Amino acid sequence: MAKQMVFRFLFSWITIFYFFSVDAQIKSISNKVDSVLSLMSIDEKVGQLNQYSGDWDEAIGPITKDGDKQNQIKKGLVGAMLNVKGVAHAKQLQLMAMQSRLKIPLLFGQDVIHGYKTTFPIPLAEAASWDLEAIELSARIAATEAAASGVQWTFAPMVDIARDPRWGRVMEGAGEDTYLGSLIAKARVKGFQGKGLGNMDAVMACAKHYAAYGAAIGGRDYNSVDMSDRTLWEVYLPPFKAALDAGATTFMTSFNDLNGIPATGNKYLLRTILKGKWNFKGFVVSDWGAVGEMINHGFVKNNTEAALAAIYAGCDMDMESRSYKNHLSQLVKEGKLPIAFVDEAVKRILTKKFELGLFDNPFKFFDELREKNELNNVEHAKAARDIARKSIVLLKNENQLLPLSPSLKSIAVIGPLAKEVKQNLGFWSIEWPNDSSYITSQWQGISNKISRNTKLLYAKGAGITDTSRAGFAEAILTAKQADVVIITVGEARDMSGEAKSRSNIHLPGVQEELIKAVAAIGKPIIVIISAGRPLIFNWTTDHIPAILYTWWLGSEAGNAIADVIFGDYNPSGKLPMSFPMAEGQIPIYYNHFNTGRPANNDSDRFYRSAYIDLSIYPKYEFGYGLSYTTFNYSNLQLSKQKIKKDETITVSFNITNTGKYAGEEVAQLYLRDKFASVVRPVKELKNFRKILLQPGETKTIHFIIDKEKLSFYNAQMKWGTEPGEFDIMVGTSSKKILLQKSFTLIQ
Ligand code: BGC
Repeated sequence: MAKQMVFRFLFSWITIFYFFSVDAQIKSISNKVDSVLSLMSIDEKVGQLNQYSGDWDEAIGPITKDGDKQNQIKKGLVGAMLNVKGVAHAKQLQLMAMQSRLKIPLLFGQDVIHGYKTTFPIPLAEAASWDLEAIELSARIAATEAAASGVQWTFAPMVDIARDPRWGRVMEGAGEDTYLGSLIAKARVKGFQGKGLGNMDAVMACAKHYAAYGAAIGGRDYNSVDMSDRTLWEVYLPPFKAALDAGATTFMTSFNDLNGIPATGNKYLLRTILKGKWNFKGFVVSDWGAVGEMINHGFVKNNTEAALAAIYAGCDMDMESRSYKNHLSQLVKEGKLPIAFVDEAVKRILTKKFELGLFDNPFKFFDELREKNELNNVEHAKAARDIARKSIVLLKNENQLLPLSPSLKSIAVIGPLAKEVKQNLGFWSIEWPNDSSYITSQWQGISNKISRNTKLLYAKGAGITDTSRAGFAEAILTAKQADVVIITVGEARDMSGEAKSRSNIHLPGVQEELIKAVAAIGKPIIVIISAGRPLIFNWTTDHIPAILYTWWLGSEAGNAIADVIFGDYNPSGKLPMSFPMAEGQIPIYYNHFNTGRPANNDSDRFYRSAYIDLSIYPKYEFGYGLSYTTFNYSNLQLSKQKIKKDETITVSFNITNTGKYAGEEVAQLYLRDKFASVVRPVKELKNFRKILLQPGETKTIHFIIDKEKLSFYNAQMKWGTEPGEFDIMVGTSSKKILLQKSFTLIQ
């Protein structure tokens, strides 16, 4: 007892001391910022709001291709750079900044989207792992490498919800679900920022693209977004709020207009919500050129008006449009813009520079030896392999064709992606010219695994976008000589990503015909599909016994795929987006509202909300993914039948591994508010757990449902609960619900 009291006493003093010291630190940084600000001329202030790009292609190359950036840096007219790769290059620029009157250090940003040198799976693939710890670790390692290479700021995570696979940037986010997306947003921010700014391996995170960019009409990149406030608040904003709650230090505006107002000049988004209601203390950067692009939107007439609209709205830094640099000083001098707007933005940016420790030592991140060590750290490759295997989704496995034995007599590997190396990195990865030795191709991964007596045969068959069938004959001949055939197909890595929307999301070129041609000889076939989005491959789904969806898995792709093919890892990924069976079904997502005539199946002729020529179901639903083993769900229990608003209810159930392999299952809990004053989705993911089970093992899962999970925005857009009946659905995907019960909220 006495011990406990001493402990409590010490604990409370440590807590008080901690809060005092954090508070003192904030105050002292704010004092320092004020004193720097008081020394600055208007031009120097505006300089802090100006961000330029270095040169993407060259690590240590000519520093500028546009204007006299070097001189501007020396005069203190540039606050931040992006696309400057490597310590040596960054150091050169920082030395120039140190020649400026006030010696305010530059900030270096970079799109570290899924790894820096060690390349992790594309973010959509990582989302398929449903493994928050692994996702956080991936961001942690990316930050460690980037920081060692002179970067203090990543333009990630992208937390845009995306319900349209035609949109090329689905590859960069966490998919269609707000709950999963919010948890992943948090994990990524935590990973990037580590123990906090000031630490040598922490980089600032940037929640982007604020906001609703993922809802571009027709999935066409940069397009307008027309959205109800309900959808904005319920579906698109929560991942941003989650990123903020996890401590995201910066936000990036999006290219789109939202209901007619470009996001970069959108006061409602930036001042009312982000800096007002959410009390965001970091700074906002525009997307590339987005301040000036408001002219094209027809929102402002020229760059002067663009600068004014953006700074008024709350955009602190202008990335690459030069509107701030060329016009803000003049606007202040002419009395058209109160200096307070500029001061506010400068303060926000300087605060982060102080927090990073750049004022104490502008060169603190520039250590070439550290850079060399971190970029060649073998532990990083191990982690990349682990998350890559966790990201693979097993779509089909008839008669347990997979896993293969490594001592088969012969395996044919066919297809355009078999021997590709850099393709595996996917879009938004960082190029290291003349160095691809750290990337494993699928061919390499498979070769590493097989026994000495296994013959590995190869034929390309066709290129990714080929229209020629000239290579089919060789592919068929090769397949005929093998016991098992692996066909590896997909998109090219640059068919998804920014400005990479596609109207046709079928397997490109003649690849599906290649699969058909090879399948005709009757050998057991496994198809591997790599892509940056959900694709359509109905014939393959309907006729090929085993399919692995591997997205783009990064530098360890080949090893990870081989681990799964030969059973060293039992696949556990689940789709974070619905896979349509035709483009005409898009947008198709699991958490839609019901109509007045909902269909229960495809033959409900009148009671349907679909087309007469298409199923109401996607080809593969959100949350879908198989394992080499099987799981049985049983014994769903609710701790209460009725609860009051402030009470919680515990949902528990058992999962048993009923197969022969140890394996991980992602158990998913969905909820439906059956009747409310506004219609609610047919189901919403509210919890999930990824668990490992040995053959025969049973584990009990407990989930707690609280008021937050039952709340929604009512007709007056007020957040809260309403009494009524709720369905609890537990399952292995959004469609395969295996257990269900109801309870009532009575107050
Ligand atoms: C993209 C951003 C990216 C920025 C800087 C823009 O085109 O939309 O996501 O961070 O470029 O590279």
